[in-house]
This record gives sequence, structure tokens and C-alpha cells, in this order.
Amino acid sequence: MMKKTITGFSKFSKREKIDWIISTFFEDAEVAKKTISQYWNDDKTLQDLHDDFIENTISNFYLPYGVAPNFVINNREYVIPMVVEESSVVAAASLVAKFWSTRGGFKATVISTTKIGQVHFMFDGEFADLKAHFNDSKSRLITATDSITKNMRKRGGGILDIELRDKSSELENYYQLHVTFETMDSMGANFINSCLEAIAKEFNKENSASSVQVQIVMSILSNYVPDCIVRAEVSCPVNRLYKENAELFAQKFKQAVDIANVEPHRAVTHNKGIMNGIDAVVVATGNDFRAIESGAHAYAAQSGAYKSLSQCEIKDGIFTFWIEIPLALGTVGGLTAIHPLAKLSLEMLQKPSASELMEIVAVAGLAQNFAALRALTTTGIQHGHMKMHLSNIIKQLDTSEEEKTYLLNYFEKKEVSHSAVVAAYEKMKERG
Ligand code: MEV
Repeated sequence: MMKKTITGFSKFSKREKIDWIISTFFEDAEVAKKTISQYWNDDKTLQDLHDDFIENTISNFYLPYGVAPNFVINNREYVIPMVVEESSVVAAASLVAKFWSTRGGFKATVISTTKIGQVHFMFDGEFADLKAHFNDSKSRLITATDSITKNMRKRGGGILDIELRDKSSELENYYQLHVTFETMDSMGANFINSCLEAIAKEFNKENSASSVQVQIVMSILSNYVPDCIVRAEVSCPVNRLYKENAELFAQKFKQAVDIANVEPHRAVTHNKGIMNGIDAVVVATGNDFRAIESGAHAYAAQSGAYKSLSQCEIKDGIFTFWIEIPLALGTVGGLTAIHPLAKLSLEMLQKPSASELMEIVAVAGLAQNFAALRALTTTGIQHGHMKMHLSNIIKQLDTSEEEKTYLLNYFEKKEVSHSAVVAAYEKMKERG
């Protein structure tokens, strides 16, 4: 049997890596080679740029880059770029954007922008001694980061505070230096981690001059940022919400949100719909969607139960729907500075600050949630999905424009399934 492990792979050239993968895992070498190479960019500089984002790059994996026009956020008009593979997401965002643009638009506000990092360490001794040691060294811990924080301080950011936290009741001998940061327009992951490592090194150094001996375990930012929060909202009189029986629509919509607040199975799907919008903009702007995802879900579970990220209220004939979500985003540094499409997205969004991007992203999430709940509580989600599904199935068949129109009309009022479309297609072909 051919060996499927290898040493020294990272030292291979791109060509050698591809050759090894193809000869080891693929039956048809030509097809595999073609699939890998057809996604390469002819522009060598651009391809090299993408190759260097990660290690062992062998190709590019395309995702569609779409745009949702007609968003009005805080009285400003936006076209929102979205990178997502799921059909209906961009269409839903566009429809909802248009809908709310004639009802006052979206209002969004950044509530807080504090980021967090922690030095986790062990200490086997009296807390009072540790506290005295920390109080004595705190200013030196901050000074130790001076060269790293210099530019950030010039921009108005830096370290906000370092706190000693006793976690020993949860894990024997476990303590933290809990550090808060303001990172202005950058997401700040590298900045935070560099500061934390400098703080940990200094804290360790202080060991030798004191009877207090700590053992540093690790230093890392936290993606749980409950003090980096943005709120986005839409509001209008109930009677402007839906074409027929708006009261019932509003009531069912609110019930759907309330259900997500008490039923975790529903909350996870409800929030997944929110993340459809959020992740798409986060990816389009070169931000880290894994960080956003984990932070958002942790926030949704902050009460101890997993709940909806959005809320709804109907009061005095006014429908209000809003979201509060932690979003640690950047508009400078990282991929935002080097991925040409991330740069393009930020320019399309009129060069937002990180706070403005938080507002835009939260709005995209709220819009997506509104679209999903509107569909779920009225026509059902499959209605729109199946339309997209139908076009996707038709695309896979060999149809002329005329035949495509025939099939679309044929399924206007019929149940769509892959086999039903294929059967209708075959019948159509037989009839000629
Ligand atoms: C599908 O990607 C997202 C929805 O399931 C969200 C929801 O159920 O609210 C439609």
C-alpha cells in the first residue's frame, strides 16, 4: 500500500507538493491537476500574494462575492459586500434593505469597544502575597509594553488596565492577569498578544526579585468580548410592517423571537441566520469570522442558557426589532490591508472606522434575521429557497433559455424536488 504520510512536505516547492498529493490520492491525475490549476490566477503577483497568506497553498478556493444595495444606516446609504456560498442570503439582505429604507432605515450605535487578553498562570501560595506582588509590579508590567503600545497610544488606544483575578476556586492554583485594551481601528489580535507576552515575561522576571513564584501557562487574547458591543435596530408602526394583517404578522414575528429566547434548539438556528449576514460581511472585509462566531455564541450564552441575539418589542403600536452583539472588527491592519478585495469592500463601504464597520455588520445580521423570520412566519422558508434550488437544478440540465423559462413557469405552483425537475425536463425533451 502506498504511504500517505510524508516528512519535509513544507520544504517542497508548490509543484512538488501538488505532484505528491496527486500521485498519492487521485486516480485521474489529469483531472485533479486541471481542477487545482484552473483556479490559479494568471497574474503572478496576485497569485503569490494569496499563496503567502497561508502555508502549503496549492490553489485558490472561490466563494461568490455579492453586493446588497439600498441599505440606509444612520441616514447614510450603503451597498454592502457579502462573501457567502449560500443562495438566498444576498437576495434576502437586498430585499430587507429596500423594505427598511422606506421605513426610516437602520439605526446603529456602538456601545463599547474594549478588547480583552489574559495571562494565565499558576501560583501555589497566599493570595494576599500574590496581590501585594502584583500591586508592586503593575506599573512595570505596563512599562514593559511601552515600545509595543507607542503607536497605538498615539492613535488614542493602548492598555486600559491590568487586573489580577483569582480563579483558584474554579481550578486549583489558577490566577489571571486580565488585561483590557482599546485597539482603535485595528482588530488588534497581534497587538494584544504581543503586549500579553511582554507582560508575562516581565511578570516572570519579577519572580526572581520576590518570594512570590508564579508559573506562566499561556498568554492570549480572548475572543469573548462582552464589552465590545454594537446595537442595531429597526422600528416602524405595526400597520406599515406587512401588506395584510400586519398586527398578526407583528405578533407572530415577536413570538418567533421569544421562542428563540427560551428554546436553545431554535436559538442556535435563529442565530445561525444572523451569522449568515454577519460572516458574509466579515469575510468580505478581511476580518476573522471564526473570532466573530465564537464571540457571538459565547455572548448568546452569557446568562448560562443559549438565547437569541436579537430582541423584539411591540409597544403602543410600534414594532421594534434589534440586536446587540459583540463584534471585534478592524478596518486597518491584517488582511484588510493586503487582500485587494477586502480593500475594495472597505472602499465600497465608504472607508468606515472599526466602529462604523461594527454598525454595518450588525445591521447585516439584523437584516438577515428579519428576512428569515418574515419568511418563516408567513410563506415558510422553503418557498424562496426552492425557487433558488429550482434555478440551480435547471442550471445543471442542458436547457435553452426557452426551455428554462418553461420549467420555471411549470414549477411556479408545483412542489420542487430534484427528481420532479428532471422528470419534467425529460418529458419536455420527449415532446420536443
Ligand atoms: C438558513 O441558513 C438560516 C435559517 O435557518 C435561519 C432561521 O431559521 O432563522 C433560515
